[in-house]
Amino acid sequence: MSTNRTISRRKLMGYAWVGAGIIVMGELIFGTLAFLWPRKRESKGEKVLIAGKVSDFKVNEVVYFRKERVFIEKTDEGFLAFSAVCTHLNCVVHWNEILKKFECPCHGAKFNRYGEVLEGPPPRPLDLYKIQIVEEKLVIDTGAPVERKKFDPSQMVKD
Ligand code: FES
Repeated sequence: MSTNRTISRRKLMGYAWVGAGIIVMGELIFGTLAFLWPRKRESKGEKVLIAGKVSDFKVNEVVYFRKERVFIEKTDEGFLAFSAVCTHLNCVVHWNEILKKFECPCHGAKFNRYGEVLEGPPPRPLDLYKIQIVEEKLVIDTGAPVERKKFDPSQMVKD
């Protein structure tokens, strides 16, 4: 015994429209909820850069980690980890090894080796990331940039 079940083209199109409508409504509802729901702030430890061994860094050297947009500088007094994001309008700064300054290509800002504003419109120094030294390795908490008003030697992490 066989059954010959057929469905009209009109009915098939009706089902397709209902299915598409359900998908669109679902996306609207979930999209709206996702937009309205408070976002979880990234906190300490959620994003971490293991930058290498302390002994890998030379004094007065600035090393850039492109993916994380982090500069790490080693001085006689210790380490600093800067965000490469300009505090004016979020362009990415670069390190000028000859002039020993961070420079922003967007509006000409310049920052000294401690991230302090030398010239240009940024309202504050480059943000810092917290550094921990764990088993001789530099561990940078890139999930929580720290804003500051000025450089202070206490911001350096001794090795
Ligand atoms: S974004 Fe860097 S100076 Fe404007």
